[in-house]
Amino acid sequence: MSLTYKDYVALGNDTVEDWASYWAEGDTNWVSDKCNPCLIKYYQSCLACDQPSTIFVPLCGKTQDMLWLARNGNRVIGVEMVPQPCIDFFSENNIDYCVEKLQGIGDGKVYRSQADGLDITIYNFNFYELTAELLGCQCNRFWDIGALIALNPEQHSKYIQQLMSLLTPDAQGILFTVEFDINQRPDVASPFCVPENRVHEVLSPVASVKLLESIDTPYSWYGHLNLNSMDGKFYFLKRK
Ligand SMILES: C[S@@+](CC[C@H](N)C(=O)[O-])C[C@H]1O[C@@H](n2cnc3c(N)ncnc32)[C@H](O)[C@@H]1O
Repeated sequence: MSLTYKDYVALGNDTVEDWASYWAEGDTNWVSDKCNPCLIKYYQSCLACDQPSTIFVPLCGKTQDMLWLARNGNRVIGVEMVPQPCIDFFSENNIDYCVEKLQGIGDGKVYRSQADGLDITIYNFNFYELTAELLGCQCNRFWDIGALIALNPEQHSKYIQQLMSLLTPDAQGILFTVEFDINQRPDVASPFCVPENRVHEVLSPVASVKLLESIDTPYSWYGHLNLNSMDGKFYFLKRK
């Protein structure tokens, strides 16, 4: 019997602890040493502003996209729960940084660049516990690369609600998703399939949604998952 997306949503089983072990074991095939080409391609039309933007990168890992965005004059704020990628991001890119403990918030820390002209802050913290008050601002742009697709599908609405709470009312940004045949993959784990109708279902109440581009993802992303193919989709989102 084939699995419906409703069944799939109920079966997601990645937990917060899994991410720490993926990083510890180097099981991080999503990491790239280059900036995402679609960020470069769509930056001007979707993210650039007359004024420098504050760009939020949820579940940022150590993506090079943060460096590219900062080099283009933006203030960049990421959130990443696992400490190692926060440290690696700054040390591998030879960026001086400082670390502060977030007062009264468990093990939360904040990593800030101290290099001239690069304004990058990574909250080493659970995304769901982040507040605009803690950030000291709301972000007017966002770049979701590997965030929504990393979360159990039953968390989609919670994720969107939390993301919106960190953004200005006129914010806009780009969302990346992947799609594949859910019946080819018996373990329901990250990266999770987020079909186009699901994107509209969870986002339409709060944002306009426009498909920018579909790509065939490289075999290295899906071959080990026993999938025949995996489509990647970039969407432009603008808050309503
Ligand atoms: C698929 S990776 C994507 C990383 C990055 N965006 C990239 O494209 O390279 C997802 C990241 O989210 C982090 N993560 C998962 N759940 C999180 C949460 N609740 N709060 C903060 N980070 C989280 C994981 O540790 C992991 O680094």
